[in-house]
Amino acid sequence: MTAPVKRTLLVTSALPYANGAPHVGHMLEYVQTDIWVRFQRMRGHDCLFIWASDAHGTPIMLKARQEGIEPEQLIERVGAEQRRDFGEFDISYDNFHTTHSDENREVTYEIYRRLVAGGHIRRETIVQAYDEQAKMFLPDRYVRGTCPRCSALDQYGDSCEVCGATYTPADLLNAVSVVSGTTPVQKQSEHLFFKLGDFEPMLRDWTSGDRLQSSVTAKLGEWFSAGLRDWDISRDEPYFGFEIPGETGKYFYVWLDAPVGYLSSLLQYCRRTGRDFDQYWKPDSAAEVYHFIGKDIVYFHTLFWPAVLVGAGYRPPTSVFAHGFLTVNGLKMSKSRGTLISARTWLDHLPAEYLRYYFASRLGDGVEDLDLNLDDFVAKVNSDIVGKLVNIASRCAGFIARGSAGRLASTLADAALQGEFAAAGERVAALYEGRDLAGAMREIMALTDRANLYIDQQKPWLMAKDPARAAEVQAVCTQGINLFRVLAVYLKPVMPKLAAGAEKFLGLPAQAWADAATPLLDTTINAYEPLATRVDPAAVKSLLAASAESLKPVGVPEAAANPAEPVAPPAKLSIDDFMKVDLRIARIDSAELVEGADKLLKLGVDLGELGKRQIFAGIRSAYEPAQLVGRLTVVVANLAPRKMRFGLSEGMVLAAGPGGQEIFVLSPDAGATPGMKVK
Ligand code: 2FM
Ligand code: ZN
Repeated sequence: MTAPVKRTLLVTSALPYANGAPHVGHMLEYVQTDIWVRFQRMRGHDCLFIWASDAHGTPIMLKARQEGIEPEQLIERVGAEQRRDFGEFDISYDNFHTTHSDENREVTYEIYRRLVAGGHIRRETIVQAYDEQAKMFLPDRYVRGTCPRCSALDQYGDSCEVCGATYTPADLLNAVSVVSGTTPVQKQSEHLFFKLGDFEPMLRDWTSGDRLQSSVTAKLGEWFSAGLRDWDISRDEPYFGFEIPGETGKYFYVWLDAPVGYLSSLLQYCRRTGRDFDQYWKPDSAAEVYHFIGKDIVYFHTLFWPAVLVGAGYRPPTSVFAHGFLTVNGLKMSKSRGTLISARTWLDHLPAEYLRYYFASRLGDGVEDLDLNLDDFVAKVNSDIVGKLVNIASRCAGFIARGSAGRLASTLADAALQGEFAAAGERVAALYEGRDLAGAMREIMALTDRANLYIDQQKPWLMAKDPARAAEVQAVCTQGINLFRVLAVYLKPVMPKLAAGAEKFLGLPAQAWADAATPLLDTTINAYEPLATRVDPAAVKSLLAASAESLKPVGVPEAAANPAEPVAPPAKLSIDDFMKVDLRIARIDSAELVEGADKLLKLGVDLGELGKRQIFAGIRSAYEPAQLVGRLTVVVANLAPRKMRFGLSEGMVLAAGPGGQEIFVLSPDAGATPGMKVK
């Protein structure tokens, strides 16, 4: 037999922005990464999990300004929260640095110097939205206004959430700067561009074959067909980031130095521990490098990042693993609905390890979205972990403690069954390796059922009534405990705390994967203490209530992207203009959710003499469809029909309120009937 090959792996999760504490959507990725890393280590490989906070960019600069502190203080504070929450979720990273560090400056400058020397940087003067009051250029998301296509109000400067149109901030009608509330002007500035096109042959080669997930490869095909555009890597001051050497008032765009954090955090770690940095990133490196990321940042990681690395004389990653988004109870996470659950709130109400198990049981190797259905969560944890898995140990432990003074038998009652459990190890390992965590959990639970069946069939509780059968009871329960031990090892990457409890119970040192193959015999085990307890549905209720109540921004992108709501003065309207608006009473006959449109409801309304209409209304955050059916309201009946992504909208429902849960659809007094004119 040849000795198993010891691999050297470097693994990363996406670097969390340094402007807010993590929520459960972030934790999905970190838990996925951590499970894979723990698995690799248990297999005996040398696997580093290197991480950092992503500290630069406009949102962080403005957030610090808003709080009246320096960005460095914000990074420090948020970094401490991140470390604390990640630690309590048992994320076993080896290093957590920040991109606002000396090491990151050093590596970023070196990369830039090499890109310039290679002729991969060019200059171009571009025109951008500029806030004259705040004296800053505005990223697209910091300009809001009316969609030029469908006239929807308050849309971002790059795309319309209502009709899906994409455009530039200059195309918006009534544009305002989110920073000062003033109207932006167009201003020129020279920018530096990374010539992505120089790397097309290399990228086509690197992304070919089955290096990446099939859906990612398909997406890349579309991007190649559309043509690779050069990438603007500079930003004008004021900006929180690294100044570009040799330029005045110009900074690297946050997305240039963010992934460099993968190198610079490793550099810090290597300097501290004496490891060899070059073995990971030199062009002919034998180490494997993997980035776990969300599907929204695939472009950065499969095009820009490998091109920058290769352009600067480093090796590209071995692969990039993308995952989908997390919904909670079927809905996109949203503060107003109470479905935005911060990692901290979760930890305050429920064990982190149960969420780790739930994520694992639902995570495949693809980019599909994953729903954290909390009823399903309670049912699954209570059934799989408490009802089945831990039950094996608790059923057998008492007999061993009482019947044989804690001593396990010296032979197994059913060596063949033990052999089946040991043999399953390679199958389960292959599923972990391929990131089919749901598949691995299914295998483990099938074995768990098998172990419970064995105990059910043997019925040690009946044997125990006959003192002459004491040896048999010991043998059967030794078998049960050995089956449990194998399962605890297989589940250890997902539930390290439960596995540690099992190790303590069995008097074992920290278990590696291969240990599961050797039965545990003729040894004394410790008293059994409950390894898992049932989830109380009341804890889930208070988790949701606490999430809804927490009005404190938790720093999710939603909050970061929208640091201050601009208040534009309402325009004056002549009475003639007002008279043109045909307001009518309508009865809502039907209301439905709209797939792919988080904010909308599709309403069927009856306008009496004007007939029936379909209207898409942005009131989803405040109403369940059933609440609306049958009620009367007021609609604008003579609005030109708008073609939306989801269908035609033939009017507008009137509602008041700031948004979120506070949207109030108007209702007439009793006596009004569908079609009546509102005057
Ligand atoms: O999308 C994000 O949350 C980024 N902060 C991820 C950066 S990953 C890497 F490139 F640094
Ligand atoms: Zn639009």
